[in-house]
Amino acid sequence: LAEDLPPNKLLGFKGIAASTADEVAIAPGYRAEVLISWGDPLVEGAAAFDPQGNNSAADQEKQFGDNNDGMSFFPIDDNHGVMAINNEYVNEQYLFAHGGSKATSLEDVRKSQAAHGVSIVAVRRTGDSQRWEVERPSRYNRRITANTEMQFSGPAAGHALLQTAADPTGRKVLGTFGNCANGKTPWGTYLTCEENYDTYFGTHQADYKTTADQKRYTLKVSEPERNWPDYDERFDVAKNPNEFNRHGWIVEIDPMNPTSTPIKHTALGRFKHENAAVTVAKDGRLVVYMGDDERGEHIYKYVSKGVVDVASPANNRSLLDEGTLYVAQFDGDASGTPLKGTGRWIALEFGKNGLTPENGFRDEAEVLIFARKAAAQVGATKMDRPEWIAVNPHDGRAYCTLTNNSKRGEEGMPLNAANPRPNNVYGQIIRWDEGGDATAASFSWDIYALCGNPIAHPEGVNRGTPNITADNTFNSPDGLGFDKAGRLWILTDGKYSNKGDYAGQGNNQMLVGDPQSGEIRRFMVGPKSCELTGITFTPDYKTMFVNVQHPGEEGDSHFPNNSPRPRSSVLMITREDGGVIGA
Ligand code: FEO
Ligand code: CA
Ligand code: CA
Repeated sequence: LAEDLPPNKLLGFKGIAASTADEVAIAPGYRAEVLISWGDPLVEGAAAFDPQGNNSAADQEKQFGDNNDGMSFFPIDDNHGVMAINNEYVNEQYLFAHGGSKATSLEDVRKSQAAHGVSIVAVRRTGDSQRWEVERPSRYNRRITANTEMQFSGPAAGHALLQTAADPTGRKVLGTFGNCANGKTPWGTYLTCEENYDTYFGTHQADYKTTADQKRYTLKVSEPERNWPDYDERFDVAKNPNEFNRHGWIVEIDPMNPTSTPIKHTALGRFKHENAAVTVAKDGRLVVYMGDDERGEHIYKYVSKGVVDVASPANNRSLLDEGTLYVAQFDGDASGTPLKGTGRWIALEFGKNGLTPENGFRDEAEVLIFARKAAAQVGATKMDRPEWIAVNPHDGRAYCTLTNNSKRGEEGMPLNAANPRPNNVYGQIIRWDEGGDATAASFSWDIYALCGNPIAHPEGVNRGTPNITADNTFNSPDGLGFDKAGRLWILTDGKYSNKGDYAGQGNNQMLVGDPQSGEIRRFMVGPKSCELTGITFTPDYKTMFVNVQHPGEEGDSHFPNNSPRPRSSVLMITREDGGVIGA
């Protein structure tokens, strides 16, 4: 328990209590301020935000997007930088003046599409040395939306399954949406990850039957969730079935070149991508760890063929196109008591491990387009919703949040060593150790935290591991990131009822873990019915940026600043004494 642990040198702040208030609570000595909010003007000529929802689609194309999620800071010099910030989805009830939960016109759909994607935001350090503000105008400021032209690259580019009437080449695609979390390459580009893209497709054609491959990617056609197919045929799967295959990828963006064309890298596989945890192996090859966030889906690793050459960025262009995709199998005692075991990475290569025409794979492109199917074919472990992965810069161990899985233990999803808890409402953080070689074919693993609630469950499996206490209890870990010193930042996207299983946990929050001792302390709590997500730092680690996403999704928030409609916002965290965050 926390009180039994020796004083911690890594965690230098005082942990705070849970909160259900409609404001940000943060550790003593720290301040959290809004950097930018949904609808703020970004690109030159942008209209001011209208708090009643009357901005047009054309306005939204020049404004900061909605529901900011994963993000990265790219320094230009000590006082100037560019942030790439995902805009994952929209809260229709606040986006549209009519307040409904779905688009009701083409203009609504275009506004929604314009609020998705990525915002590129230039920032400058202000007089008070650790504070930054948005730079307007700036040549870097840019919106990438669900209609921005992009290219495919890698083994599946040009494949028949990616060809549509509008793009017979299968190499040109419009837009990115469902942009959950992110990654950053050693050559200074941004990776944005397409997650819940299935919710944008559908059809009202009554006799349309989804294929097995569409079902494997959870396409539901009867009630298109956001009504895009009703007004934009591109999203009607009866008319354009292959458009669905053109999303669910990882997209590379050069934030320093405002006219660059984003690239969808097919070598990294198609699934509901959460983030892309990029590291360089000791032999110089690029390694990307990736989670597929759905109940029972998998954890992947990509290893490039060539090595990273930071001095000549042009030489790195092929690293995300030529390489091998692997999927993880976690072995161990399924009784769930040891909470550790071994595992291996299985290659998803056409012609190997049963990925053959007899099993429904005609070439490598099909293995990548239907990576979920390939993963199941080779015996990957079904995980409890893999969300973010982060690599400890000090020992190379990778950590992954398995956010929750209420179906664990039911038919088709038996308990296993790494996912040992039935009806897993709290989630766990798993980590693996590849012995210092990120290209290794095998690993050992353990559970860093089996989340739980000692207030609601003083005993038993829902109490959690000993590093979970009445003072730090939380559910549904999601965002994850290491700082330079090796502090593990944990952000939650879970239930905030503060009742029953969730008693005493309050709103979604950010905590910090010590990888060695296991101690976890609560650092910050978000306003009502938001999640906290996205985490990035300036290079001196004295300014941290964190996202408040979907505040008031249940209608009870006026965040920030008593706003008539709650607004997702980027927060800037600084220390009153100007020191390193968390130290
Ligand atoms: Fe966009 Fe799995 O969170
Ligand atoms: Ca997430
Ligand atoms: Ca989540």
